[in-house]
Amino acid sequence: MISTAKLSDTLEFAGMTLKNRFVLPPMVTQKGGLDGSVTDEILEHYEAIAKGQVGLIIVEATAISWEHRIMKKNICIHNDEAIPGLTELASRIKAHGAKAFIQLVHAGPKNFSGGELVGPSPVRIKDGSLPRELSVTEIHEIKAQFVAAAKRAKAAGFDGVEVHAAHFYLLSAFMSPYANQRTDDYGGSVENRLRFAVEVVKAIREELGDYPIIYRMNCLENVIGGIDIEEAVQAARIIEEAGVDMLHISGIVDHLYRPEELSIFSPESPPDIMNGYPYDCWAPAAAKIREHVNVPVIGVGMVRDATLAERIMDEDLCDLLAVGRGILADPNFAEKVLSGKGDTILPWDDSMET
Ligand SMILES: Cc1cc2nc3c(=O)[nH]c(=O)nc-3n(C[C@H](O)[C@H](O)[C@H](O)COP(=O)(O)O)c2cc1C
Repeated sequence: MISTAKLSDTLEFAGMTLKNRFVLPPMVTQKGGLDGSVTDEILEHYEAIAKGQVGLIIVEATAISWEHRIMKKNICIHNDEAIPGLTELASRIKAHGAKAFIQLVHAGPKNFSGGELVGPSPVRIKDGSLPRELSVTEIHEIKAQFVAAAKRAKAAGFDGVEVHAAHFYLLSAFMSPYANQRTDDYGGSVENRLRFAVEVVKAIREELGDYPIIYRMNCLENVIGGIDIEEAVQAARIIEEAGVDMLHISGIVDHLYRPEELSIFSPESPPDIMNGYPYDCWAPAAAKIREHVNVPVIGVGMVRDATLAERIMDEDLCDLLAVGRGILADPNFAEKVLSGKGDTILPWDDSMET
């Protein structure tokens, strides 16, 4: 267990020093080029945030496969042509003292780019489509795509990668007992549902040695038969054992699979694990998982002001705190909290969520 930290504390992790405990969680900007490239708008977006003193910036979900990108303006890391643009991006972030990670994603069943929907099993999603079940051969091909993408991230100068295994994208769907109904080695027990993710992590390790890996996972899915906190703890231990350097705990409130029939909690009836924190705040769940692992854990969700940010750290819920929409509203969020000027943070306006 790591002792209580303040937001201004440094953190030694995977051979590097983070200058404070603020994290920018990955957030797709939809500002990529239609060819998947890094645009000037993207460079400016991340540079502004890096100037705001965030210690660790995790660049938005970046597609490891062109067909399986999340959306049309998704930045991509699917071939070597992506490397120069990503090199510029990593260097703009690092110029301001932040560590630069990049999130690697395969959209799987949650693909808004027009590409084929694929997943562990043909479980119907809310618009009525049925993802196609992936074969074991395809699983191995995708694993190789994750490794190739991680190699490109390293070549571009990123300090590490985050494997996206949350929010019902591909690896998350495999982990979900709801979405994964396979009867082969990749379905059934929690170990089997984690097998794909474990293979991805180990394959990156094998290829890139001690190159840092963060793993983003769900602690809860708002769907009957979905992952619960007890299973998330088991999953976290399995994935830690596979060799990740840090865990990033998120969850699913608005799920992909027929929400009107299957939701199990709501703002009026939040899950116990939120424990008096705002609805959609996963930091208490991060705390629960953190009791069972030795790697640092990132908490996230609904932090919009200095008071909640400091409360989460004072109550020792996590090692690092990710602030998403709060930083979109005010790129100087971290700098203002760290300098005691939290009362000048520009507020997030919920109407910004379209
Ligand atoms: C515009 C937007 C884009 C997002 N894109 C991603 C993404 O690319 N990858 C991911 O794992 N989560 C994504 N998320 C979720 C955020 O990383 C974060 O977990 C969530 O916004 C909760 O934190 P917050 O309340 O501080 O914003 C996105 C959220 C928003 C608002």
